[in-house]
Order: sequence, then structure tokens, then C-alpha cells
Amino acid sequence: NERTFIMVKPDGVQRGVVGHVIHRFEQRGYKLVALKMLQAPRALLESHYEEHKGKKFYEILLAYIGSGPVVAMVWEGLTAVSVGRKMLGATDPAKSEPGTIRGDFGIVTGRNIVHGSDSEASAKREIALWFKPDEISQWTHTAEQWIYE
Ligand code: GTP
Ligand code: MG
Repeated sequence: NERTFIMVKPDGVQRGVVGHVIHRFEQRGYKLVALKMLQAPRALLESHYEEHKGKKFYEILLAYIGSGPVVAMVWEGLTAVSVGRKMLGATDPAKSEPGTIRGDFGIVTGRNIVHGSDSEASAKREIALWFKPDEISQWTHTAEQWIYE
């Protein structure tokens, strides 16, 4: 089953939207299989954001995500990566549709509340980076028969 890595960033934690993010993914029908709160060490953030190394916002981004604890999660279900990205909204919250997480809680790109994997390959890489295999739970989501046909 497809999995995606979703992370509430330090501003999302401070803004009190951790519960909202979890609630939206649960409500949609996705299955939570891993979750933890941590202050990410710099080396982890360098790996996580390696695609942005050298960009002008890179150091600003690492300082932002490292400024406080984040809530890291793995959500599982059909098309979790692409639907997850839609649920987050555009990178720039000012361009995010209302009803998306960024569109409901943010205004600027540098404080955009949440992260979500942008492809299945990114999701696999990010999940392996943030979670050990034994931190991912295998459980039967008994509502599945009412979520999927
Ligand atoms: P993530 O889910 O966090 O990866 O966002 P994204 O995939 O929608 O955007 P992208 O991977 O291109 O950028 C990663 C993160 O860097 C963004 O979510 C922003 O937090 C930050 N970022 C991107 N561009 C800028 C920028 O121009 N200025 C600042 N301050 N931050 C930026
Ligand atoms: Mg990205």
C-alpha cells in the first residue's frame, strides 16, 4: 500500500494545528502507521532537504525547520502521496486553496505549516530517513471496507 511522509513543521506545532493535520488525514480515510515528535538534528535536515542545497533559501529553511520540534508521520492508503499533497495545498500558502491545510492556516512560504512527500520515490526515501522499520506499525484498519470499494 502507498505511504507518504507528512511532517508538521515547528510553526504548525506552535500554531496548534497538529491535531487538525492528524484529523484531516484520519477523516479522509488514511491510516496512521507511524508518528513521533522530535527536534530534528541538522544532519537529518540536510539529508531531508538535499534537493534544495545551494538554493538561496536553503539555510533559512534549515534554521526554520530546526527551530523547534516537528511532528513526523507516515500515512498509508490509496494514492496517499498525491492526495496528501493536495490536502496540504500549494507551497506558497497565499496561493493555496481555502480548505487545504496551508490555505486555512498559513500566509507565507517560509511558514507553510506542513511538509508532504512529492513523489512515491521521495516518500520511500523520507520514511527511511525519519523512521526505523520497527517504528512503523502494521495494523488492520477495520473501516477499510467502508473507505474502499
Ligand atoms: P515541502 O512539502 O515542505 O517539501 O514543500 P514543497 O514540496 O511544497 O516545496 P519545496 O520542496 O519546493 O520547498 C521546501 C520548503 O522550503 C517549502 O515548503 C518552504 O518551507 C521552503 N521554501 C521554498 N521556497 C522558499 C523560498 O523562496 N523562501 C523561503 N523562505 N522558504 C522557501
Ligand atoms: Mg518538497
